[in-house]
Amino acid sequence: MMKKSGAGLSRRAFLGAGAVLGASAWLAPTRTGQARVPAPFAPTRTVALKAGESELKLLGPDRPATRILAYDGEPFRTLRLPRGTRLQATFLNGMHEGSTLHFHGIRMPNEYDGVPTLTQPLVQPGGSFVHLLPLDDPGTFFFHPHCDETGQAGRGLVGVLIVEDPRDPAFDAEYVLTLKDWRLADDGGFLELSEPDGASKAGTFGATRTVNGAASLNLTAPAGGDVRLRILNVDSTRIMDIGVEGGEAWLIAVDGHALKPVRLDDLPDGVWRMGPAQRIDVHLRMPRDGSPVQVGDYRAADIYHFATIAAEGKVARPRKGPLALPKPELPRPDMKKAERLSFTLQQATDAAVKDIALPPDDPLAKALLDSLCVGSTTYWGIDSESWPTGSRRNVPPPLARMTTGRSYAVEIKNETRFPHPVHLHGHAFEVLSSSLDRLPRHFADTVLVQPGEAVTVAFVAAPGDWVFHCHILEHMETGMMGYFRIV
Ligand code: C2O
Ligand code: CU
Repeated sequence: MMKKSGAGLSRRAFLGAGAVLGASAWLAPTRTGQARVPAPFAPTRTVALKAGESELKLLGPDRPATRILAYDGEPFRTLRLPRGTRLQATFLNGMHEGSTLHFHGIRMPNEYDGVPTLTQPLVQPGGSFVHLLPLDDPGTFFFHPHCDETGQAGRGLVGVLIVEDPRDPAFDAEYVLTLKDWRLADDGGFLELSEPDGASKAGTFGATRTVNGAASLNLTAPAGGDVRLRILNVDSTRIMDIGVEGGEAWLIAVDGHALKPVRLDDLPDGVWRMGPAQRIDVHLRMPRDGSPVQVGDYRAADIYHFATIAAEGKVARPRKGPLALPKPELPRPDMKKAERLSFTLQQATDAAVKDIALPPDDPLAKALLDSLCVGSTTYWGIDSESWPTGSRRNVPPPLARMTTGRSYAVEIKNETRFPHPVHLHGHAFEVLSSSLDRLPRHFADTVLVQPGEAVTVAFVAAPGDWVFHCHILEHMETGMMGYFRIV
């Protein structure tokens, strides 16, 4: 990979990004409308996911363990299901506070989306909620609570959902690498998960960095072999620059959705910049001479090498070029007819935000936001509006009203001094352009918008009230969230 070249784009990196943009013609998903599996005929897999406490030795084998939160006592509980399955997931709340379960990136009926107040009531301690999800899209997804996320996901309540596609090329090895930092004291307990100085700026960072709950991993793959890495940033705050040293590597999917393979070396600085909630699939070809490969986060001067892959055995006939995944079968926005909207991410203060409520005849007008699910202060907003915090408890009107089946091109402008990974529920959008010209065209459910940047995404609207928010959890809980009402 290339060495970092300071904050700006190097000439080489810029050319690389241009080459990447040229790849957009490849993206031609089939026109399958909403691509819903005919639910009554799809095979159903049933799982129960119970949120509760568990223990994990995060500080090292000889140090005190940490009481974390997990689904079914398993840190980063991982589900693997074939595409086309219908997942019936029963969320059981074994914690002492309210929660809900949200399957991030899955296109599903709105009623199973897990957003308290907006799509379902908060699940109280001891309570449960049944989700029925069509798994139409293959890829690397994850799930997490949608209430007090800084507290619950911050203490580890995150699971991984892998939707397998039998049409995928065969890899010689596959590893799931789930990245998360923890805010720990020396006794293994948690430090304050959010502090005003973090919440109002880049976020409150953890200093204990982990991959799958360990400080780093030693993995193996055959020399000359093809490895699939599914890398998830499930941290609350940290933006990472993922790169590979020692082997050839291609980006083959973003947020689960395949794109035309892009060499990591052709991306700006030779890395993929990934904010909280973003996932990538990387195809790594191991060197034939048996030398090891390192995978790391190169964003800070202090590089975090989270996985070393050593050669073990070798493949008889090494392949050439990248192994592309099947093209995504997503509703493709019609750019000729798309309605254009623009939203601006802003700093905000309690004093500046209006407490506007839905009209009284709206079914949601009487619902009060549960105090557990909102922060106490407003630091952020979208288009001069903020999701309620503190004593503002009314559900606000939607940021936009849209029509089911229509195409929308949404520009997201970042007027703040900090990057924001912006997520829309229930859709996969196509990332069309960046004013900084740094992104290949691809499908995603979350897009990182840099300070001063404007990114345009487009999608075919699916019915429901879908939240649109920053996935730096403290930003979301201090105002940077709204919703689209699609009817
Ligand atoms: Cu990971 Cu509201 O989402
Ligand atoms: Cu943010």
